[in-house]
Amino acid sequence: MTDQTASLSAPVATGEAIANTRKVFIKTYGCQMNVYDSTRMGDALSSEGYVTTGTLEEADLVLLNTCHIREKAAEKVYSALGRLREMKKARNAQGQELMIGVAGCVAQAEGEEILRRAPAVDVVIGPQTYHRLPQALRRARAGERVIETEYAVEDKFEHLPPTEKKVIRSRGVTAFLTVQEGCDKFCTFCVVPYTRGSEVSRPLQQIIDEATRLAESGVREVTLLGQNVNAWHGNGPNGESWGLGDLLYRLAEVPGLARLRYTTSHPRDMDDRLIEAHRDLRQLMPYLHLPVQAGSDRILKAMNRRHTADEYIRLIERIRGVRPDIALSGDFIVGFPGETDEDFEATMRLIERVNYAQAFSFKYSVRPGTPGAELGFHVAEEVKAERLERLQALLLKQQHEFAEACVGKTIDILLEKPGRMPGQLIGRSPWLQSVNVDAKSSQIGDIISVRIIGTGPNSLFAEQTGS
Ligand code: 5AD
Ligand code: SF4
Repeated sequence: MTDQTASLSAPVATGEAIANTRKVFIKTYGCQMNVYDSTRMGDALSSEGYVTTGTLEEADLVLLNTCHIREKAAEKVYSALGRLREMKKARNAQGQELMIGVAGCVAQAEGEEILRRAPAVDVVIGPQTYHRLPQALRRARAGERVIETEYAVEDKFEHLPPTEKKVIRSRGVTAFLTVQEGCDKFCTFCVVPYTRGSEVSRPLQQIIDEATRLAESGVREVTLLGQNVNAWHGNGPNGESWGLGDLLYRLAEVPGLARLRYTTSHPRDMDDRLIEAHRDLRQLMPYLHLPVQAGSDRILKAMNRRHTADEYIRLIERIRGVRPDIALSGDFIVGFPGETDEDFEATMRLIERVNYAQAFSFKYSVRPGTPGAELGFHVAEEVKAERLERLQALLLKQQHEFAEACVGKTIDILLEKPGRMPGQLIGRSPWLQSVNVDAKSSQIGDIISVRIIGTGPNSLFAEQTGS
């Protein structure tokens, strides 16, 4: 999944909180799936009478939804817990309660260790068990320090209450929808197969029901999520075997859903049907996040990516063949153990060849328990830093060139939120760029036609050409 910078994503309070309702503040670290999970934890807690708040100071419960993908991400959690401990002490001194929960991938990976290192924590709950949050909190209130990290036998989605329609509405016109979780690919650098478990696909009907509910509540664009989303598989209405391509054709029939996206994909699972969906479905946006991680076959092999650089490039050529306007996005790791200057140059050449519209890049971070952690020939930190700088400069140049190439084009944008200036709205291009436009006669949720007239550091400027 695309790693996002730690973001505060408390699902919005609906404004009807009564004075004595309990309030939960949820802080989300990491990827889009954590953003989605935070909203679903909010749903689980709303059945216990909690409303979500964006103000830490007024919370009775603070939940950290954590990320374990790189060392820095996990360390951030412990420093946040240090600060929360002080806050809890101050609260308790006034005879008030403050409960602290740790959810997500650090919870899954470190379990007991969190209780040991962070004495203020009341509940540790993994990504597959958060439907049990209400019971866990009741146990904690009775004095227990609770750990819920065993993979549940039951399906958490079946045990979560559906998100209330007014809450969906308050969150805007775009939404995430998890369709698949976990990963069986075992890239040697990655903790996901251990923290999120093996690949599980949600059943077709559950997905259709959730997508329909989102659309009925005003959502126009849905991004399907999975650590390995294109490994999704299920049964069609007649029991036939379906893949992600089939699912997208079906979701394109949901009334009101104008735009579909999916992330994150593995090159090995881009099958013919999915590529056909890119050719046929106008709802499927021409944007694909397809991480390659490295451009050297030797490193790809050591990473256990199960494809070569050439296979990746040929795959992209096939996709571009059916959808020439598709924009590519990727993830890159520099300084994997054993990466030589020549290996790194191969990554730079691959980037030149593909020409990315957007990308995320990282220095390799050793993750205990992964096969990569056992490898020798570590790359020096200064070398990693130097390589990352060069790689990011190239990716940024490509991103700017992509934005510049949009100037003069007429495109459709989905209006998502108000802009900074009166009368201004911010929309989303098919290629995920933010677009500022004066659109006085249109409203949030509309898809309007605009002409791009300029670029800013992280967005585009446009004028409306039609509705
Ligand atoms: N070190 C650095 N980057 C990593 N990623 C995953 N594991 C590691 C690691 N150990 C990156 C990959 C992945 C993205 C979500 O995070 O590029 O695609
Ligand atoms: Fe991690 Fe590789 Fe699975 Fe992606 S495909 S989640 S990088 S193991």
